[in-house]
Amino acid sequence: MSNQRRFQAPKGTRDFLPEDMAIRRHIETAWRETSTRHGFEEIEGPTFEHLGLYTVKSGEGIVSELFSFRREGGRDDYALRPEFTPTLARMVAARGPGLPRPVKWFAVPTHYRAERPQRGRLREFVQWNVDMLGLDSPTADAEVLATGISALEALGLDPSMVTVRISHRDAVALGLESLGVSSESMTSAFELLDRRDKMPPEVFAEKASALGLDDDGLSDFDRLARTRRSIRGDLADLASESGVAAEAFAPLEGLRDALVDAGLADWCEWDLGIVRGLAYYTGSVFEVHESGGRERAIAGGGRYDGLVELMGGPPTSAVGFGMGDVVLGLVLEDRGLLEEVRPAPPRVFVLSAGEDADRPAHRLLAELRRAGIHARRSYKTTRNVGKLLGEASRAGATRAVILGSELGEGRVQLKDLVSGEQELVPLDEVVRMISGSESANG
Ligand code: HAM
Repeated sequence: MSNQRRFQAPKGTRDFLPEDMAIRRHIETAWRETSTRHGFEEIEGPTFEHLGLYTVKSGEGIVSELFSFRREGGRDDYALRPEFTPTLARMVAARGPGLPRPVKWFAVPTHYRAERPQRGRLREFVQWNVDMLGLDSPTADAEVLATGISALEALGLDPSMVTVRISHRDAVALGLESLGVSSESMTSAFELLDRRDKMPPEVFAEKASALGLDDDGLSDFDRLARTRRSIRGDLADLASESGVAAEAFAPLEGLRDALVDAGLADWCEWDLGIVRGLAYYTGSVFEVHESGGRERAIAGGGRYDGLVELMGGPPTSAVGFGMGDVVLGLVLEDRGLLEEVRPAPPRVFVLSAGEDADRPAHRLLAELRRAGIHARRSYKTTRNVGKLLGEASRAGATRAVILGSELGEGRVQLKDLVSGEQELVPLDEVVRMISGSESANG
């Protein structure tokens, strides 16, 4: 009997083959470059934390999706990180007021959530976090949004393809209060509203009535949750359309001005249906969606002014977002924006056509690589140069160096695999010629 066992990757995880990894790096490079350009610095934290960090203030939705564990024989409970914000707040709280403000940090961590895997939702994913702390002004909200939008643009998306939907928890809370939701039930009401599309209407109605909404309240809420408007319009229109008192929208004025001034109005709209499931948000909240509404959110975030203090730090205003790689990848793929993305091809392929060429080929390869050139070789030795050239082309190389019969005279063939042109050049000139043409080509 055989001892063989076949293993599959755990449900909701991904294997990244080179082509998949190229896409992941393409997305992460856009995230990192955009963050740096906007003045954010990269940080990282542990992949697991004390369980309590998440039960403090993330909200029931995320707590029910934790991968938690205890070390064999240990007493402490841990959880794989389902998000980054509690870690970030813990880090800022630990440094206290000594940290120069504003704090502008970004991270590209991997997260773990025991969700039911489905399109756009996995159990392990990468999430870009951009957060700005210590500046209590809509300028901070606008700056993190500008950073998110700029990365989407760098990846080839435009305002016809994605929309940033923005709301404000105070405005929605005021609206809900006028419908009979008590302030103690507000967090549960936000969580329910965030999940309303994920449950049958009767379950929603039942949960809503437990929060104090009657039938009329439900339909008024529906009106509020469906209110969407251009951010260029008058905020008074938002009030009349949603049924919420106009003064509730005053906190959005500064944000609107900052977004319009930054030239981002085309990307953004008010959407009072956005409340966000996480419990710590305190002000503006936003999500990025594919414009056709076909996918789950590409990104989500908002203000969380109380979290650093809750972690034992000084009162600190904070705003940020998380953008996952899964939904973003689906949107980019649907738009044909990943077709050209593949593992980096070599600049040059070294071919030895004959056994006596093997060692010189090996030496040349080492020299090319030392000069910083991405060089590969064929590991086959054959006089069938055509076959070797086929291998070089398949690898995506644009040039090949063929070490053949002229090697005895110290010369090799340098072939341009795009034009097909070929010239006989001195072996000891090859590295200089290739690196020279590289810098000439930028
Ligand atoms: P979140 O809405 O839970 O927010 O997640 C943000 C984004 O992460 C989502 O829009 C989605 O793209 C991605 N994401 C979340 N869960 C999954 C999953 N199971 N599979 C694939 N992608 C997923 C937060 O996590 C907040 N901590 C963001 C934040 C940062 N707020 C302030 N700063």
